[in-house]
Amino acid sequence: MSTALTFASHCKVNLLLNILGRRDDGFHELETLMQPVPLHDQLQFGRIGQGIELTCSEPSLPTDQGNLVHRAASMFLKAAGNGCGVKIHLEKNLPLAAGIGAGSANAAVTLRGLNELWNNFLSDDELCKLAAELGSDVPFFLTDSPGLAHGRGEQVELLAPFPALKDIAILLVNSGFGVSTPWAYRELSNYPDALDGRPGRAQALADALKGGNLSASAEFFYNSLEQPVFKKYPVLPVIRDFLNDNGAIVARMSGSGATLFALLHDRAEAENLRAKYHEKFGQAGWSRTVLL
Ligand code: C5P
Repeated sequence: MSTALTFASHCKVNLLLNILGRRDDGFHELETLMQPVPLHDQLQFGRIGQGIELTCSEPSLPTDQGNLVHRAASMFLKAAGNGCGVKIHLEKNLPLAAGIGAGSANAAVTLRGLNELWNNFLSDDELCKLAAELGSDVPFFLTDSPGLAHGRGEQVELLAPFPALKDIAILLVNSGFGVSTPWAYRELSNYPDALDGRPGRAQALADALKGGNLSASAEFFYNSLEQPVFKKYPVLPVIRDFLNDNGAIVARMSGSGATLFALLHDRAEAENLRAKYHEKFGQAGWSRTVLL
């Protein structure tokens, strides 16, 4: 690919996901605190005369409009005018349908990458609008900062890095099955307290994490979707409890799952817990440790 640009596409965890209720448009009003995690897919972009040529290292992913990257590119090219095309390669390292936003991030990075290739043709506001059309948590991935999001997740207030997470290590574990996000939200109607969260919890956790003490913040972490998802996949609460009982300062599910995350004091502790996790639950699935 001549004059190709390469971008890393990171993932996230929801430190808190508090659902406030169902809206008339079918989405759910929520508040969430999202933390970028430096584990990456990779995207390469190059200009061509016309059309969108998408290739992907993961054969189970579509390379047409069924892929969010294709949809993001198509939206961008439409805005940029006729007579433009792009060739894109997506190198997938992160699990799919895993609650860590990897697909949304790929879409956001496509908008960022194409905008750079087209000399910042679109303003930040225009990119943000396109991102929100692509998916609720796509706007969050237009930057690398932690964010507090409202609405259906698309209204993002960027935050400074949290002192309590400085030098903290994260362990992510994914057993290898995907969870359907629409299903998880729909199921909330069977869990009235998880569907009608009390607003203000995201800000309370953000304030606690600004205070610098992670152990003191641990009680504020929360995810409404754990209730339906843990009911359907009973292995998940067993793993979460195992992580908590074996040194995690906090362990929770991210997004609609099935990825669980544990926060630990340092990388050695995280690697140690990772090894224990696989000893207990088998070698299958995906796990990573990294410093936040
Ligand atoms: O916006 P996104 O495409 O990521 O959402 C996927 C699905 O998750 C939506 O179609 C909807 O069923 C559900 N969802 C929701 N409320 C939100 C975000 C997502 O009900 N705030």
